[in-house]
Amino acid sequence: MEHKQSNGEDCDLFSGFCQNFKSFATDAIHVGQEPEQWKSMAVVPPISLSTTFKQQAPGKHAGFEYSRSGNPTRNCLEKAVAALDGAKHCLAVASGLAATVTITHMLKCGDGIVCMDDVYGGTNRYFQKIAVTMGLELALVDCTKPELLKAALKDNTKMVWIETPTNPTMKVVDIKACSKLVHDHNKDIVVVVDNTFMSAYFQRPLALGADICMYSATKYMNGHSDVVMGLISVNREDLNERLRFLQNALGGVPSPFDCFLCNRGLKTLHLRMEQHFKNAMAAAKFLEADPRVERVIYPGLPSHPQYDVVKRQSTGCPGMITFYIKGQLEHASTFLSNLKLFAIAESLGGYESLAEHPAIMTHASVPEKERAVLGISDTLIRLSVGLEDEEDIIQDLKQALDAAHPKK
Ligand SMILES: Cc1ncc(COP(=O)(O)O)c(C=O)c1O
Repeated sequence: MEHKQSNGEDCDLFSGFCQNFKSFATDAIHVGQEPEQWKSMAVVPPISLSTTFKQQAPGKHAGFEYSRSGNPTRNCLEKAVAALDGAKHCLAVASGLAATVTITHMLKCGDGIVCMDDVYGGTNRYFQKIAVTMGLELALVDCTKPELLKAALKDNTKMVWIETPTNPTMKVVDIKACSKLVHDHNKDIVVVVDNTFMSAYFQRPLALGADICMYSATKYMNGHSDVVMGLISVNREDLNERLRFLQNALGGVPSPFDCFLCNRGLKTLHLRMEQHFKNAMAAAKFLEADPRVERVIYPGLPSHPQYDVVKRQSTGCPGMITFYIKGQLEHASTFLSNLKLFAIAESLGGYESLAEHPAIMTHASVPEKERAVLGISDTLIRLSVGLEDEEDIIQDLKQALDAAHPKK
């Protein structure tokens, strides 16, 4: 399928991927940002810091009462994100994990969750160490195998949690096929997709049949590594009503300043994602061709096991690359310590390149046995390729590989 980049030119990089979403950039820039909503006609939404709002008479207000239950700056962000997700509603919360907790609070004691086996370490920790102690049942399943997902669905299953691509082994789940399978079993099971890696620019889970699309907006959606935030998008009115209640009742809301920053970050999401894709593809190809690298897992490469699914459900790929360096832990460590442009740091999705060791860093909270099954080994390295110049990114990877595996 032909893909038009935001600059209007055809691009080989995108060939075979789904066509990008109509008017995405226009919506990111304009939806929810209307100057007419402010008396001042401000073109850029102001940061509304007031915690409370004057009422003309008891119960008679202009849409806002108290900043936890609703805030004008948060409103602008939520409207823009809803448009980008092709959703009717969006709710902003204080972090990606706050989004996970808020969504899970829709369930009650005795209900079951089926969760993709390879998810962000904090999601795994929350489900295994907290949700289970509150009386929820949990089954971890490889949702890339529909027969395993089907077998895991029980009478008490109320939620299926999918992350795709997964963090860090980049497994890709067929959202459409899984949503259909789950809803054919029971239409009331809520299918949630953690869309953090792809961002709204590359993937629309709701259009593929999911009920909830959530993000750690800390990553690509904000994109500047200066905000911790979560976003939840839905089309179903009942889910919106329940989640709005929980957003206020649980209270994990983001600050107006963070909403302002994230709203600003969205304005360049389309440009950033295209450049992340370009840089990551170049880095992935470089690593795949290097004999000191055991294996590269990048959804944009034909060598990715679910490459066909990626092309069917996504409009491109983000800056996340996972690879196994040849050797042992010391080789991974030497590689990481010698990077100059890439910073060794957790998180991802910002304009700057980051590298990390999942077994020691982001996924240390995943039990060792589970890490072994998932392939989160000592030689696994995760890159978040940023927006620097492509040649500099490749040069940095090359010199770090040279340090890890010096020529004899
Ligand atoms: C895929 C994914 N989901 C959720 C989270 C949690 O988000 P936050 O750190 O904003 O709480 C992360 C954080 O790294 C993540 O990578």
